[in-house]
Amino acid sequence: TQPLRLGIAGLGTVGAGVVKIIQRHADLLAARSGRPIAITAVTARDKLKNRDVDLSSYHWAADPLALAQSDEIDVFVELMGGHEGAAREATEAALRAGKDVITANKALLAHHGHELARLAEDNGRVIRFEAAVAGGIPVIKTMTESLAGNAIRRVMGVMNGTCNYILTRMESAGLPYETVFEEARQLGYLEADPTLDVGGIDAGHKLAILSAIAFGTEMNFDAVEIEGIERVSIDDINRAADMGYKIKLLGVAQMTARGLEQRMSPCLVPADSPLGQLQGGTNMVVVEGDAVGQIVLRGAGAGEGPTASAVMSDVVEIARGVRLPTFGQPASGLARAQAARTAVP
Ligand code: NAP
Ligand code: HSE
Repeated sequence: TQPLRLGIAGLGTVGAGVVKIIQRHADLLAARSGRPIAITAVTARDKLKNRDVDLSSYHWAADPLALAQSDEIDVFVELMGGHEGAAREATEAALRAGKDVITANKALLAHHGHELARLAEDNGRVIRFEAAVAGGIPVIKTMTESLAGNAIRRVMGVMNGTCNYILTRMESAGLPYETVFEEARQLGYLEADPTLDVGGIDAGHKLAILSAIAFGTEMNFDAVEIEGIERVSIDDINRAADMGYKIKLLGVAQMTARGLEQRMSPCLVPADSPLGQLQGGTNMVVVEGDAVGQIVLRGAGAGEGPTASAVMSDVVEIARGVRLPTFGQPASGLARAQAARTAVP
């Protein structure tokens, strides 16, 4: 049987995690995929950096663009980040060169997901992104596959591990923002530009992706109303606790009579509710379908193992020959949605 040949661009927290899983579980993955999974080539910025993983048997490509177009690979795995530059150029080049693409890059998807999906479809390729939303939680496959028989009414939740970690640690340990922020960095939660995390933008990217899937609408990140956690103080957290509430960076997307409403902002939630009890880097996504009712998904939203686990679900899916449409339906079939502007509470 022919192996599925992967080219991995980006060997940081997530990329190194993916390499480790493939090395640790070669037999398991081959059995589940029906064929071996082989990394053939990799690249990152610094070839000499110690990454705590053995890369000696893989070809080191000169740059992401060369890797994306290499005859040595079937699937281009984009784990660099950023919505412009290398990630965008190499992803487009890979699809044009006839490669399938796997990415964890929610910024790229929120800004260019629609056109990338069209490019994939025009070239007969797929682009998969389970790791892009809520880390290790299989929310994309749950929504595109398991809930395919439902009209989705609403999707909401806590979708940024860094913010949840910061808010819960400030509250439980009474630690200042700066100390807790540094802890989140050590845990591998942070984006290369952490203002994306604390500014609510990363979570906004994820909400835009889930909205497209939930409502069959074109991605509209610009219409997400976003407020981050930078202005939340220990005093706010303590005052909320006195009243029986926790402060969470909460995203809500729903189709209203006025159009598609997408909001990401710090909200008060009852302390004894499942959302209120969410600790550390944990994420929670709540989906409401007309047939199934409410589904609650909870798990690690960031970090090496959980995120690499989600990337591997896409690898195995492609290795099995499953060719799921990008947003649960082809991008060419997504409707335009009017954005409903609301006041952020
Ligand atoms: P990271 O630790 O900063 O790693 C980024 C990797 O990409 C590094 O290996 C870096 O090379 C490489 N890279 C960056 N720009 C490059 C360029 N122009 N050319 C070649 N290589 C380049 O980031 P990460 O946390 O692994 O995140 C990767 C992606 O996964 C991002 O899109 C992020 O949003 C997404 N994600 C992350 C998590 C998480 O928990 N960390 C969870 C879900 C999704 P060097 O190592 O040589 O600098
Ligand atoms: N920086 C992101 C977070 C990584 O903290 O949730 C996972 O997407």
